[in-house]
Amino acid sequence: MPLELDKIRSQFPALKRDAIFFDNPGGTQIAKPSIDRITRYLIESNANHEGVFATSIESDAVLDEAHRAMADFYNASSPSEIVFGNNMTTLTLHISRSISREWKAGDEIVVTRLDHDANVTPWVLAAQDKGVKVNWVDFDVEEGTLKLDDLQKALERKPKLVAVGYASNSLGTINPVRKITQMSHEAGALVYIDAVQYAPHAPIDVQSIGCDYLVSSAYKYWATQSTSVQPLL
Ligand SMILES: Cc1ncc(COP(=O)(O)O)c(C=O)c1O
Repeated sequence: MPLELDKIRSQFPALKRDAIFFDNPGGTQIAKPSIDRITRYLIESNANHEGVFATSIESDAVLDEAHRAMADFYNASSPSEIVFGNNMTTLTLHISRSISREWKAGDEIVVTRLDHDANVTPWVLAAQDKGVKVNWVDFDVEEGTLKLDDLQKALERKPKLVAVGYASNSLGTINPVRKITQMSHEAGALVYIDAVQYAPHAPIDVQSIGCDYLVSSAYKYWATQSTSVQPLL
């Protein structure tokens, strides 16, 4: 069935400007029904969570619904795997602090030169604090693809974690994240995928990828919040 483009476009008020700026991440354009739902929430039931009063109970219900919707969006095996945060960068800073608590001096991790800084600096900072070595996977400049041979070499050193992007913000390269996850798991590493640039463009199936974490900026429910899928290990 052909897409009804006029109908779809009419759902995005930001497209009514004379000059349109197509941003991604936290600045991804929001559809009118989502804007309306956020506004309705703020007017009708905005409250702290887990209270015993009506608006708090209603807020919990909205949050549960959001968890279920995002689990469906990512094909997560349970809504409890979904975490909401301020944006991908902040989530990654938080999660890197949690994960690195298990690291010891002399451990190693892997980041790539094709990744956005948001999926590099939080890991490098955590590594510095723990005396952990950072191994960099380079990319082929002609092809714009990650050098999987470099990754394989880094994996022989049994790193604790591989942080990799799904789609590159600078080149548009789509990385073979399923294969990278398999390779990394065989070496015993956790896999943390930055799907910020991929999520607005194509379906994501975290169970098929098999990753441990997948993070993206949200555009579906909350204008300025991001989500991560965190399978229970
Ligand atoms: C590939 C990629 N990852 C992460 C980010 C950061 O996303 P956020 O705005 O949700 O922190 C960006 C922002 O441009 C990006 O392009």
